[in-house]
Amino acid sequence: MTAAYEDREWQTALRALESMGLYLASYKRPQLERRLGSFLEREGFPSLERMVSQLRVDRELYRRLHTYLTIHVTEFFRDPPYWEHFRAVVAESPARRWRIWSAGCSWGAEAVTAGLILDQLGRRFEITATDSDAVVLERARRAQYSAVDVAKVPEPYQSQFREVRGQWELVPFKLGSIRFLPHDLVREEAPGQFEMVICRNVIIYFQTEARRRVLRSLDASLVPGGRLFLGATETFLEYRDMGFEVERPSIYRKLPT
Ligand SMILES: C[S@@+](CC[C@H](N)C(=O)[O-])C[C@H]1O[C@@H](n2cnc3c(N)ncnc32)[C@H](O)[C@@H]1O
Repeated sequence: MTAAYEDREWQTALRALESMGLYLASYKRPQLERRLGSFLEREGFPSLERMVSQLRVDRELYRRLHTYLTIHVTEFFRDPPYWEHFRAVVAESPARRWRIWSAGCSWGAEAVTAGLILDQLGRRFEITATDSDAVVLERARRAQYSAVDVAKVPEPYQSQFREVRGQWELVPFKLGSIRFLPHDLVREEAPGQFEMVICRNVIIYFQTEARRRVLRSLDASLVPGGRLFLGATETFLEYRDMGFEVERPSIYRKLPT
């Protein structure tokens, strides 16, 4: 595939963006180039260089660019059969209390889905949901959803939402809570120790080395016997070497050492 930018121009732009706190070198380049290209067009910049110099003085543009470059697609109960597996793992486990990290949580649908299931199963839980994008985290903290979003929630959990002036709000959980925090998976240490880490549809965007680094950090954040829940289309071929076994499709159990 031909790159849209000369290597030198690309590396100069990446370094300039990095000096402003936007670290893009970990992401797969072809996809990033496509996203950047359409952002330039949308915002009316004739070149990458012009956009980079405007970014230095325009914080709002920076926020827009960050949000545009990171893909935020998510939904409640995304890939439903996999949430059935999640439910089975929790139901079968003797653990009464779950510390869960939803890493790359976007606007929070995944963390809320986990909370709905845990609450219904009568398990205590604390969910730490993190993302590197400030805009989606603001939305996650508002915990207000559209009717279209809530329509994805299966019937037994619908009563956990109430309509307030045309928006749907989450009724507080009985047995746990979710906190939303800023966190960069590539550049920061894990935010604690967990019985389960849910990191779905995130590592797919990273280049090989960054993906490895992220997997190591997720591993380090799990207690022995803890579970790693990845996306339905994500492969984790190195799971044995890293000391995991497959427990259910997309759910890996960290073997005690
Ligand atoms: C496609 S969404 C996945 C949302 C959710 N996990 C799901 O599967 O429904 C990917 C999320 O990863 C976040 N992300 C991308 N790079 C990240 C990084 N370096 N650190 C933390 N989050 C990141 C994006 O901001 C985005 O919200």
